[in-house]
Amino acid sequence: MKETVRADWDRVVLVCGKCSKKMDGGFGEKGRRSLAKALRAHLGLKKGRKGRAGVVEVKCLGICPRDAVTVVNGARPGEWSLVRCGADLDQVASSLGLGER
Ligand code: FES
Repeated sequence: MKETVRADWDRVVLVCGKCSKKMDGGFGEKGRRSLAKALRAHLGLKKGRKGRAGVVEVKCLGICPRDAVTVVNGARPGEWSLVRCGADLDQVASSLGLGER
């Protein structure tokens, strides 16, 4: 078995899946998508490790904000973001360093 696997990611963000579930969507055109799915679609990321960045849903991160989703930017793990329901995805992407589409 291999010890490493190549990925095309140059960035990774961890999105709390439990926050997303509690909000029952909250993002995307109709406000029905989870933050992770909406971000992936907004940025046109390919699936899995073939995308240029990883947007990964994880378990509860222990912050549990109201009407927001906890997000950890892998490049800046010392400062976590709380993304409000319905936030502008361009701003969210740029603040997380996911940059241009
Ligand atoms: S539910 Fe998201 S941080 Fe706890």
